Amino acid sequence: MTTEKNNKIVKPFLRWAGGKTWFTKHIENYIPKDFNDYYEPFVGGGSVFFYLKSKGFIKNKAYLSDSNSDLINTYKILKNYSNDLFEILKTHIDSEDEYYRMRSTGFTDKIEKAAKFIYLNKTSFNGIYRVNRNGEYNVPYGRRNLNILYDFEHLKDISIALKNTYLSTLDLIL
Ligand SMILES: C[S@@+](CC[C@H](N)C(=O)[O-])C[C@H]1O[C@@H](n2cnc3c(N)ncnc32)[C@H](O)[C@@H]1O
Repeated sequence: MTTEKNNKIVKPFLRWAGGKTWFTKHIENYIPKDFNDYYEPFVGGGSVFFYLKSKGFIKNKAYLSDSNSDLINTYKILKNYSNDLFEILKTHIDSEDEYYRMRSTGFTDKIEKAAKFIYLNKTSFNGIYRVNRNGEYNVPYGRRNLNILYDFEHLKDISIALKNTYLSTLDLIL
């Protein structure tokens, strides 16, 4: 299955430090025409994965991992529970009060956690993922004046792109 819709390239949906979008236009020179499963540790915002998936290079299973468990949870929820997630995202408001209320709320439910992660990534100062010693996200509010908070069509494309993936939290010690 390919996520290619009228040649549309699915772009990453997260703001993520060190993203490799700039590299995707070169990558086709280095990718074999045919390969079996695809493995990407350090998947981060997934620009390389979503590009290769959109272009139909990844035909079989993709094994994606990252040491950031909040990130991997978010991908898993988008893959498996996108409708439930979207219902929560539809209730979000971009305001400073709401940002700090959300930032300080500890959710136990994994869908709520994913919704919080996406919300903070979208509305924080620069989208970087930074936590303090207690593991608490401590990036300030972004004042981005967003007209539209979420592009649900895009999120749906992301969910489809993730369908044949195996997602895991892996801390690779190099
Ligand atoms: C720059 S991003 C990867 C960009 C991505 N491959 C792309 O296509 O845009 C690097 C990622 O590596 C993850 N990372 C850093 N150290 C790691 C480790 N020791 N084991 C696993 N993942 C790690 C970070 O959480 C981050 O999401």
